[in-house]
Amino acid sequence: MNNSLKVLISREEIKETVLKLAEKIRSDYADKMPLLICVLKGSSVFLADLIRALDIPLEVEFVRASSYGSGTESSGKMKLVQGLKSAIKNRHVIVIEDIVDTGQTLFSLMAYLKKKKPASLKLCALADKPSRRKVPVNIDYLGFTVPNKFIVGYGIDFNEQYRYLPDICIIE
Ligand code: IMP
Ligand code: MG
Repeated sequence: MNNSLKVLISREEIKETVLKLAEKIRSDYADKMPLLICVLKGSSVFLADLIRALDIPLEVEFVRASSYGSGTESSGKMKLVQGLKSAIKNRHVIVIEDIVDTGQTLFSLMAYLKKKKPASLKLCALADKPSRRKVPVNIDYLGFTVPNKFIVGYGIDFNEQYRYLPDICIIE
């Protein structure tokens, strides 16, 4: 593996931002028993830190969407490789995503979830790459806006590698 990595967002900045996001979500959902839907696999580290910072009654669910094959370009199609295991009707749902890039994954996923009639449906994303957007996606709780570079770390991968990095890095 000869890729070079440069820290874009340090672990300290991530921690601070996760705490701020948790504060906002907590004040909006304290008595609502929200259902957090984590989009595997990239959002798993973010979810794990976020729910502990939230510290309110909540439930978690996991879906796996595949739009990227291997490599760094989106194929443009969203496929649910692992769908929902529980009903979301009348639940207060918050989708937890690592990064919104072209927007295609989340555009399709939010439409799919909306059809299941949740009481409310919001999106929390750790990172947003708005320069690459092809379809509109509204991010209700956003951690960081990132430049048009490929990022890895804190759960986010390049060909399944680098998820373990504590910082978010640009890979070249
Ligand atoms: P979209 O459908 O183009 O918005 O792609 C969303 C998904 O592509 C994200 O959830 C990530 O899994 C992946 N992705 C997009 N940009 C990056 C990146 O910079 N690094 C790693 N994965 C990325
Ligand atoms: Mg993802």
